[in-house]
Amino acid sequence: MRVLVTGGAGFIGSNLVTALTMSGNDVGIIDDFSSGKAENLNGLAWFREMDILDPALDAVVAEFAPEAVVHLAAQPSVAASVKDPERDWAVNVEGTRAVARAAAAAGARRVLSASSAAVYGEPAEVPLLETSLKAPANPYGRSKLAAETSLAETLAPLGVDFASLRFSNVFGPRQDGRGEGGVVSIFATKMMAGELPVIYGDGGQTRDFIYVGDVVAAIVAALFADSVLGAAAMPDGPAYNISTGKELPVDQLAGMMRSAALFARPFPHEPAREGDVARSALDPSKAFAAFGWQARASLEASLKLTLTWFQGQA
Ligand SMILES: NC(=O)c1ccc[n+]([C@@H]2O[C@H](COP(=O)([O-])OP(=O)(O)OC[C@H]3O[C@@H](n4cnc5c(N)ncnc54)[C@H](O)[C@@H]3O)[C@@H](O)[C@H]2O)c1
Repeated sequence: MRVLVTGGAGFIGSNLVTALTMSGNDVGIIDDFSSGKAENLNGLAWFREMDILDPALDAVVAEFAPEAVVHLAAQPSVAASVKDPERDWAVNVEGTRAVARAAAAAGARRVLSASSAAVYGEPAEVPLLETSLKAPANPYGRSKLAAETSLAETLAPLGVDFASLRFSNVFGPRQDGRGEGGVVSIFATKMMAGELPVIYGDGGQTRDFIYVGDVVAAIVAALFADSVLGAAAMPDGPAYNISTGKELPVDQLAGMMRSAALFARPFPHEPAREGDVARSALDPSKAFAAFGWQARASLEASLKLTLTWFQGQA
């Protein structure tokens, strides 16, 4: 299949591109390196450096002529969305609309777009279903929710199949551990530098941590699914949780990472940050019913693999 990956120089995108090229697909990448890295680019993939908001996007997508598009390019940081909500909205909402339009005009038959657990805000129930209350607590969550609507508004009338994939907390090799990346990458980066990572709050807060290999497998399963993913008849239409459904307290995660890395010193605690949710887990059973995917990676093994990768970077 000819698959265009926006954000293919990023963490999830570059892992996806590796999997797609290894299984013989023709892959194209569009990325502006705003958070992605040139070293993540796959030499087997077609590549254009550009902002998805560039008016030349249609022509560039038409040049690659994808059969499917996986849209991962986004302003991915909650903190940056608070500092500059206009840019966050432009990239995440208008950017999704632009990618969807360009994909349809180029003849793509399916568009998958990255959404997030952030669309739910503080969970009304755990685990969250796709139909659970959506009350995003920051501009990033709001733009990701609006992007889902942009995608549907653009593609449903054109008969292009689509889905928004709501990822929980993704971790794995190539995640940026310096900025605001995921907690696993931040803990790993600090430990490798001999520094002490900080746990905000009492550590009892839970997250649904999913290995990037499982996320890549979900995207691939959705790309090749025979069923129509955007069918409005399904609960909450074209949105799918991509998650494990399991809650893990951050303290327990820290303990697992410390023992895997043989890091003796306990991590200090600091007061909880405003806006951090107390519990989070997303029920992934709709994705299993629709395209037969479920997370399979063992947490211990995937944390070890991730730590080994970070060790290689130190
Ligand atoms: N990592 C997670 O835990 C997580 C969780 C939920 C959702 N997501 C979503 O998954 C997607 C991928 O996230 P990631 O963790 O790989 O982040 P990432 O920052 O590593 O990747 C995003 C990529 O998009 C590119 N990009 C950003 N703005 C662009 C623009 N205007 N034009 C072209 N390229 C642009 C960046 O350079 C980068 O390569 C994002 O949509 C993100 O919101 C990630």
